[in-house]
Amino acid sequence: MKIITVASAKGGVGKSTFCYAVGKMLSDHGKRVLLVDMDIGVRSLDILLGVAERIVYNWGDVINGACDYRSAVVEAYNNLFVLPAPLDFNEKYTSESFCEIISLYEKDFDFVFLDSPAGLESGFELASGACDSCVVMSTPDAISIRAASYASEKIRKAGVSDVRLVVNKFDKRYHKRINVDDFIDTVGARLLGIIPDSQEIYASVNGEKIPYTSKGNQAFLRISKRICGESLPFRAKNL
Ligand SMILES: Nc1ncnc2c1ncn2[C@@H]1O[C@H](COP(=O)(O)OP(=O)(O)OP(=O)(O)O)[C@@H](O)[C@H]1O
Ligand SMILES: [Mg+2]
Repeated sequence: MKIITVASAKGGVGKSTFCYAVGKMLSDHGKRVLLVDMDIGVRSLDILLGVAERIVYNWGDVINGACDYRSAVVEAYNNLFVLPAPLDFNEKYTSESFCEIISLYEKDFDFVFLDSPAGLESGFELASGACDSCVVMSTPDAISIRAASYASEKIRKAGVSDVRLVVNKFDKRYHKRINVDDFIDTVGARLLGIIPDSQEIYASVNGEKIPYTSKGNQAFLRISKRICGESLPFRAKNL
């Protein structure tokens, strides 16, 4: 089981969208995927996956012994499950207790994505202690890239060395002068992919399927393959 934290110190850069789209793609290809909402108090993945009405438990309940770990996850699509965040923080939510409950899912899943909230506090810290790799997300602007570099630095300090960068919402009409190599240098992480700014990705939050041949879908497909260990070259036209 591979455990990947998706993080940035900044909000709205596309962390949850990434978890949903990549998770859906991997599950469509037969992998068993668990998306874990790390945003204590303001959870969102259940809405994104259209299962908000079916949520009963959350990972806080598993830590507190209020439910069995399997009853806390909800299957949104075939092979794609969500584990919601608790609504309040509790001092029992430590790195140790969180790692312990995540390890219970070892036999059930191929991939676990820990969808971090904006900021580098409790949700991010719990995720840092439980993952074996990290995807830092950024949009193509200096503020966001700085926020990604803060996340990268902090997670490396927590002992996670496998950190990759994803640049999201890229629009070549407006970002002609952006040099992605500079972003890679600032964040100090290898590139995992570039995702275009696209209406189709935006609409996917409301349950619309991202068309297979669209550039957005192709970007997620290439990223998913890289996550599975395939080595795909980065070409200027088709990253
Ligand atoms: N590539 C994209 N093209 C167009 N819209 C996008 C793209 N990626 C994300 N969005 C939109 O940007 C908004 C923020 O995305 P999302 O909620 O995934 O960000 P986040 O980083 O998880 O935010 P938060 O920090 O609040 O959890 C959403 O409306 C989403 O649909
Ligand atoms: Mg989010």
